[in-house]
Amino acid sequence: MRKPIIAGNWKMNKTISEGIDFVNKIKDLGDNTDVEVLVCVPFVALDSVKKELGISNIKLGSQNIHWEESGAYTGEISPLMLKEIGIDYAIIGHSERRQYFNETDETVNKRVKAALKYNIKPIICVGETLEEREENKAEEKVKTQVINSLEGINENEMKDIVFAYEPIWAIGTGRTASSEDANEMISFIRNIIEEKYNEKIAEGIRIQYGGSVKPGNVREIMNQPDIDGALVGGASLKKDDFTDIVRF
Ligand code: 13P
Repeated sequence: MRKPIIAGNWKMNKTISEGIDFVNKIKDLGDNTDVEVLVCVPFVALDSVKKELGISNIKLGSQNIHWEESGAYTGEISPLMLKEIGIDYAIIGHSERRQYFNETDETVNKRVKAALKYNIKPIICVGETLEEREENKAEEKVKTQVINSLEGINENEMKDIVFAYEPIWAIGTGRTASSEDANEMISFIRNIIEEKYNEKIAEGIRIQYGGSVKPGNVREIMNQPDIDGALVGGASLKKDDFTDIVRF
């Protein structure tokens, strides 16, 4: 049985003090629930948010991770630095990174390997553009991203990987993929993993949906058989909305 995982991706929102204040109010969200709850916060707030969370059952994630431990990579943050803070997850290959910061399948793969080496669980984001969907190329695009991101990853490492299917046209647009369409693509991703590894690994891996998830649509999304959680942007910034989403 896969444990659902609901993650807030704050993106470039909330200062350190705003972040502390926010997690202080949602600290108990991870208690008495079968859902794994996670907040992925800006790098500068990770340490303070970790301290504020204390013994809370809410997990902590970064929104990126570099592949080298140290070196001449101005502006980057290494897995060693993130490990010291004690984060649990790292979002890797978010479409905004791919779109605005030249993230490629190759760099995604390097980041995935680095995260795993430091026992930080990767949340690998994949998804097609509207154009690709309209040209019937969505599956091809997602398949390429999934296969390339997993290059050199062994069966044992797969248990720590989470995927997030985020169709780019549904991010921040208020336009959600229908829950059936999202489920279909997520089931397709599971099949790719079964082909590459085996049925047991495919059945065990958690695959989230992301893109305009809100209190009003979360239940329908979570009720789909292949969808194991949500990666939530805008609605994760508001206490009431995030709470309603986690308690769907
Ligand atoms: P929204 O929930 O704001 O559409 O963002 C989705 C997303 O990109 C989460 O990573």
